[in-house]
Amino acid sequence: MRVEPQAQARLRKLGAEYRPGERLANWTSLSVGGTTDMLVVEDVRGLPELVGWLRAEGLPWRLLGGGTNLLVPEGEVPYLVLQLSSRQAGVRFDGTRVEVDAAADLGRTVTECARRNLGGMEGLIGVPGTVGGALRMNAGAYGTEISQFVQSVSLFQAARGEIVRLPMSQVSFQYRHSSFAPEDILLGCELQLPERPYEEIRAAIRMCNEKRRASQPLNEKSAGCIFKNPPGGSAGRMIDELGLKGYRRGGAVVSERHANFFVNRHQATADDFFALMEDVQGRVRQSFGVELENEVILWGNGA
Ligand code: EPU
Repeated sequence: MRVEPQAQARLRKLGAEYRPGERLANWTSLSVGGTTDMLVVEDVRGLPELVGWLRAEGLPWRLLGGGTNLLVPEGEVPYLVLQLSSRQAGVRFDGTRVEVDAAADLGRTVTECARRNLGGMEGLIGVPGTVGGALRMNAGAYGTEISQFVQSVSLFQAARGEIVRLPMSQVSFQYRHSSFAPEDILLGCELQLPERPYEEIRAAIRMCNEKRRASQPLNEKSAGCIFKNPPGGSAGRMIDELGLKGYRRGGAVVSERHANFFVNRHQATADDFFALMEDVQGRVRQSFGVELENEVILWGNGA
């Protein structure tokens, strides 16, 4: 989506860095996605006015986090993309309480906490993406989910048009799911972490990294696990049992290392990934009677 020069000037005044014609493939871990104008929000306090203005002008938008769990269509997409600037994003400590900005990198957050002898999140070390994305998806790995440590979440609540802080009593998290409204913009959270000796945390981090390296295609372009695990089952094991490792549609390939990872090996397009997902879903349905649900977030072609 392209915005008129006049509107661009207004958006800059509202505190957004304006980046016309960005290739979204450069912003996603799958290296897939078309183009649109992008707004990088430097000061989140301006969000109510900025989002209010976009709504009044009828300009649709979507929020991009780390782009690590996202499949974007090709061509000119019919919405603007907002991203919170990571320039000032960080982690602030107050004893065992930690305030983290949504745009902070999750892995870096885990290691910064470890340096302060704060553990618990070791399992999340190799999960790529931002803290905001991890909150939205309730990211998890090796028996740990980020929600276990969250005390409160600050967000731009679209329904109220305000920045609010919600205690855990007003938020719910399930497996790879949170209760935030789709148009809410998560701004940060407060975590409470257990104190542990640094060496112990480091050893746990190392173990998780090794397990991940042994079982996941970390050197290839992917969006992590493409499907959620069905209750009591494993999407990866089912796809593997069907002999689909290495199966491809265009440039999108089922990883030989982990069958629930689909990798971009030959300049795949979004349609290659859509086709591969549908195909694999159909085969799992036919053979196991199980409907695999997407874990990857799909951005459509509609506003
Ligand atoms: N398996 C196979 N073949 C495969 C892949 C897995 O037989 O190709 C088997 C494994 O041998 C194991 C079982 O399936 O017995 C489960 O596999 P794994 O331990 O790799 O875990 P997963 O359920 O496939 C989940 C998360 C991962 C997370 C790992 C580690 C989901 C959808 N996936 O994978 O998260 O890293 O556990 O805790 O919940 C993600 O969310 O994007 C993600 C990668």
